Amino acid sequence: MAQALLIRQLQLGELGNFTYIIADPASKEAFVIDPSAPPAGILGPLKKEGLTLKGILLTHGHYDHVVDTGMYDVPVYLSRAEAVFYTPAAKNLVRTADAEKIALGALTVECLHTPGHTPGCQCFYIDGNIFTGDVLFVDAVGRTDFPGGSADTLFESLQRLKRLPGATVIWPGHHYGRAAHASIAALRRSNPFFACDSLAEFREYTG
Ligand SMILES: [Fe+2]
Repeated sequence: MAQALLIRQLQLGELGNFTYIIADPASKEAFVIDPSAPPAGILGPLKKEGLTLKGILLTHGHYDHVVDTGMYDVPVYLSRAEAVFYTPAAKNLVRTADAEKIALGALTVECLHTPGHTPGCQCFYIDGNIFTGDVLFVDAVGRTDFPGGSADTLFESLQRLKRLPGATVIWPGHHYGRAAHASIAALRRSNPFFACDSLAEFREYTG
């Protein structure tokens, strides 16, 4: 049986965001998700584990998730919808579509279009894990008061995440909660914004 995905959760940058290193343990190929600090602070730990960087995955274009993306020589993946709105610097910007799959060694990352916090937010699903950026946190959901944000659209995106298997682990973009990660099933019980099944109620919560 193949080994599970390797995940390293780093808390970095001026806002203390979560940056992730994920890797296929067999091939040692790695992606960085949402770099929140200069490359040295991320590539150091990555190389220490004998991993090779193959790409940067961006959940969205806000400045605290795209630090120094222009300094990497690997492909930088951002959703097509986000790229027309927030365009971070990148030498090799790859514009992704909903449900697009990106290989990581023997594993596959699936892009899920989840707008609402920004027009082109995407989550990354891989091997029973979902990296949610600023769409969903352990005890909160993303703000919708930035340019291009929409509470109604975010609500629809959250319904999509609810359809994932309950055991799926969510890995958020910030440490807004009692734990640094949690399962979808646990969040349905403990996160009132995520648990909310009614758009009218959700508007009241987030309004
Ligand atoms: Fe954001």
